[in-house]
Amino acid sequence: MALGFSLSVQGMESNLVVKHLANEQNIVVLDSVKKFLLLPVQDDAPEGKVNIVVNNEGQLAQSMNIRLARERVDSYVPLDLSAYVNQKVSIDIAGMPSSSLCWKELKMSDSFDMTNKEMFRPVYHHTPVYGWMNDPNGMFYKDGVYHLYFQYNPYGSVWGNMHWGHSTSTDLMHWNFEGCAIVPDAWGAIFSGSCVVDHNNTAGFGKGAVVAFYTSAKATPWGDVQSQSMAYSLDNGKTFTKYEGNPILTSSEKDFRDPKIFWYAPGKHWVMMLAVGQHMEIYSSVNLKEWKKESEFGAMQGAHGGVWECPDLVEIPVEGTREKKWVLICNLNPGGPFGGSAAQYFVGSFDGKKFVNESPTQTKWMDWGKDNYATVTWNNAPDGRCIALGWMSNWQYANNVPTRQYRSANTLARDLTLYREGQELYLKSTPSVEVKKARGKKVSIPSFKVSEKHEMVNLFEEKQGAYEVEIVIQNTGASKIAFCLLNDKGEKVSMYYDLNRKQFVMDRSESGTVDFSKDFPAVTVAPANVDKELTLRLFVDRSSIEAFGEDGKFVMTNLVFPSQPYVKMCFEADKNGYAVKSLNVYKLQ
Ligand code: FRU
Repeated sequence: MALGFSLSVQGMESNLVVKHLANEQNIVVLDSVKKFLLLPVQDDAPEGKVNIVVNNEGQLAQSMNIRLARERVDSYVPLDLSAYVNQKVSIDIAGMPSSSLCWKELKMSDSFDMTNKEMFRPVYHHTPVYGWMNDPNGMFYKDGVYHLYFQYNPYGSVWGNMHWGHSTSTDLMHWNFEGCAIVPDAWGAIFSGSCVVDHNNTAGFGKGAVVAFYTSAKATPWGDVQSQSMAYSLDNGKTFTKYEGNPILTSSEKDFRDPKIFWYAPGKHWVMMLAVGQHMEIYSSVNLKEWKKESEFGAMQGAHGGVWECPDLVEIPVEGTREKKWVLICNLNPGGPFGGSAAQYFVGSFDGKKFVNESPTQTKWMDWGKDNYATVTWNNAPDGRCIALGWMSNWQYANNVPTRQYRSANTLARDLTLYREGQELYLKSTPSVEVKKARGKKVSIPSFKVSEKHEMVNLFEEKQGAYEVEIVIQNTGASKIAFCLLNDKGEKVSMYYDLNRKQFVMDRSESGTVDFSKDFPAVTVAPANVDKELTLRLFVDRSSIEAFGEDGKFVMTNLVFPSQPYVKMCFEADKNGYAVKSLNVYKLQ
């Protein structure tokens, strides 16, 4: 029985009627369908269940959870109805009171406005044009194009409805949004995973097919079920067909996910790395469909403050030698050095079946900030490069950062190499060469000395807030080399080298808006074994700062939300002082 009232919106060609039924159930009846139904969402509202029903026979075509606006509209998301244009369509929406604001704001439209509405949206980092993003997924390079898939919610700017979104780039700096590549199905949501290019047609989908592996995840009354599935693409990763034999790998483990697949040439077989609880499992296969478990890695190794996720295993050259070592990347959440999510790594050997960590006593972190997670590398990267990309956020507050149209960006692409310090091998993360190629207008500030008093430097006349600062400092005996980025409102990010402790420190507690989470204001510390002359590249992109010391021997990635861009730098020293030998500011776009 229909209760409450009906609302009908008459358009030129569309007719939209909302019927409110009992128990917070509602039906939106669409008489003639346009391309999109625009849905108003409110990020902190409870989820409602939205079902697309075709042909009035109760046939369920699609189902998702959407936080429709109850008392405030944060942004709009499009429900793509183009597949149903000539059919009769109803949208069944459960769990939404009839008094909600959304009923007045529903709109049918032939277009969806994707122009940027956000002051915090980075200029030269990848972001989804709208909606929520977390982990980078399925990265592969083919025919001059870098493909980046990502954990994506196209129905809101908080986590949920996991799809694989897709973007492409030819220079790792400028990205085109390609829409959704893999959508949820009966096996579950589409969690993280990887793609390979099957050059030799080992799976039988076709020579050069792109094969995607992901975790099918669903919450059931008898617990979370995670299994591995695959899909293949015969049009270079644009569209995927799900494999009919899915799921290909199941388990009763609750956390069983994030398959990373790569070709192990010496053994002529494929390898799958899987994150399972707090260890990694290694599988092998010759046809990508049948997998054999070979070994486990993780007991008594590294940090175990949380669940291990998003593994990777890559062979990386050791600088200055002909040697290569295998590096196992292990993201964990929580348990990072400054709370929440972080990426650790292990350096060792791998024989196609088993990974052996060569220095089990030390925990090694890829990044010393709070905002580099789910880092994985590109398969098939050109010229033997190993290029990594992370999700620039932290599960402690990712859903609460002050943006609305979209949430989250990726880090800059980073080329990984190994370097030796004493007995140990460490990862070096250098901004990929493409970053230098994208440098625009340069402002060079003449060298100057800093001792005891402040020096203030204006960085740019333009107030874009998207630039790189490259600093070379000559230490003349100072034990502390301090500087900060600041804006006209006095909001600042303070940084300093502590030469006695051999550390680089960044403090974002006065960086702008910090009160959306108690875990956001933070001081992060990196080991910095620097000499008399030190170099630092700081990448500022409206709402993020990435500091690369000594060409990437340490990296620190931190989000910031200033009410105006940082346009000045301030330098401070103790009485022994230091000299800023060169200070170049490059515009990046
Ligand atoms: C890591 C992660 C993965 C999972 C995905 C779900 O951030 O938890 O382990 O596949 O996010 O979105």
